[in-house]
Amino acid sequence: MVLTPISEAVNSGRQYLPALTTHTPSPNQCLLPLTAQVNSQDHLEIGGCDITNLIAQFGSPLYVLDEQTLRTACRQYRQAFEQYYPGESQVIYASKAWNCIAICAIVASEGLGLDVVSGGELYTALQAGVNPETIYLHGNNKSVDELHFAVEQGCTIVVDNWLELKTLAAWQPSEPLHNGRAKRPIPIMLRLTPGIECHTHDYIRTGSIDSKFGFDPQQLEPVFEFVSQQPTLECVGLHAHIGSQIFELQPHYDLGAVMVQWFSKAAQYGLSMQVLDIGGGLGIRYTESDDPPSIEDWVKGVCAGIVQACESLLLPLPKLISEPGRSLIGPACVTAYTTGSQKVVPDIRTYVTVDGGMSDNPRPITYQSVYRAVLANRMSAEITEQVTIAGKHCESGDIVIKNAQLPQIHPGDVLVVMATGAYNYSMASNYNRLARPAAVLVSDGDASLILQRETYQDLVRQDCLPERLTKEG
Ligand SMILES: Cc1ncc(COP(=O)(O)O)c(C=O)c1O
Repeated sequence: MVLTPISEAVNSGRQYLPALTTHTPSPNQCLLPLTAQVNSQDHLEIGGCDITNLIAQFGSPLYVLDEQTLRTACRQYRQAFEQYYPGESQVIYASKAWNCIAICAIVASEGLGLDVVSGGELYTALQAGVNPETIYLHGNNKSVDELHFAVEQGCTIVVDNWLELKTLAAWQPSEPLHNGRAKRPIPIMLRLTPGIECHTHDYIRTGSIDSKFGFDPQQLEPVFEFVSQQPTLECVGLHAHIGSQIFELQPHYDLGAVMVQWFSKAAQYGLSMQVLDIGGGLGIRYTESDDPPSIEDWVKGVCAGIVQACESLLLPLPKLISEPGRSLIGPACVTAYTTGSQKVVPDIRTYVTVDGGMSDNPRPITYQSVYRAVLANRMSAEITEQVTIAGKHCESGDIVIKNAQLPQIHPGDVLVVMATGAYNYSMASNYNRLARPAAVLVSDGDASLILQRETYQDLVRQDCLPERLTKEG
């Protein structure tokens, strides 16, 4: 199938197709997955699968994940680090963006490690067969059980605060350890708030001093001192994450310099750190006006900052870890909805309702995130309307897209919202007791379920009815 040239695509859903170029685009700069095209029925296809057929087969709403886009993003990260970083590097997927067995398995098969933030994410990664030695446990309030679980598996702990540090230092494992994998000393990294500002939503900015994550830099020297005296802990390196959906290169460039300076400070306490984790944060295109750097340019900037800082301080290059989440999985997925009722508020707006909303995509109501949509069953239809796409929840703020530019919509149309791979399913809820949608992985015309649609039975699975409520009278 031949891709539609952009010149023919103006004023229709076709305008969002990936540009025709000789080189593979950076997925985070595309609105639709790399395999998106329009078939002879004027339907949107992804991974060789007609979206309207997928809805007929798997139901609606439906997350459609394009394997090729995900794998391409993984490879672009790895190849760029190989090209621009003269030392050792490792890319680990920030699985909070979307943690499920199939996705963990795909990214691991591309040679990536994993960042997990809970026992549940860790358990899922292990079920996917991810090597625990490539897993890093994050979180600002890890439970003792979560810490022990991760240590017993042989994961590295990214220590966030004093409580956790002291819990780990004091841990006396019952011998023999469950699976013999646990390492002594326990490999840890220290997370710090580097004081780097970036322009993103307040809730997803984590690296400024006023953040709940990580050690305050003022506290770091006593931490180094403490760690240097703990024979059961091996502090392998430092970690920082400055925020998410970042379009500038400078903050990550500056981060390298700040972190490398802390390496030399740590050396004064006898700590020889070899690993530097600069977090994730590269932004993606949600709308035409979003202009993130490519994966390659981002990696190049990050590497340049660290290489330069190490050279000026005469330090050896650390092993460099990065933790992208959104830019790996976000552009690889779309959410397909079926349209329903409409309401015209004269002189104000027209609401078009879909069969999902804030329960499958809580980002608009949480972060005022803006999305774009196409009519997957009439991709060439002229754009004539401005409508607001509303969800079906009992919440006025349940708006998927405000003022979307679309063709005329009829009940039963298939509306595809783009770039929904990151922080959609992973933040989904059962609000109003809506069952979570299914997710399918598409590749070369094949569609395989990776997450089943929840059922009414699933919704009441955890419900308990105390016996006294069942008695009559
Ligand atoms: C510690 C950490 N690492 C990595 C990420 C991934 O960030 P992104 O999805 O923006 O790449 C996050 C997300 O907030 C994070 O908190």
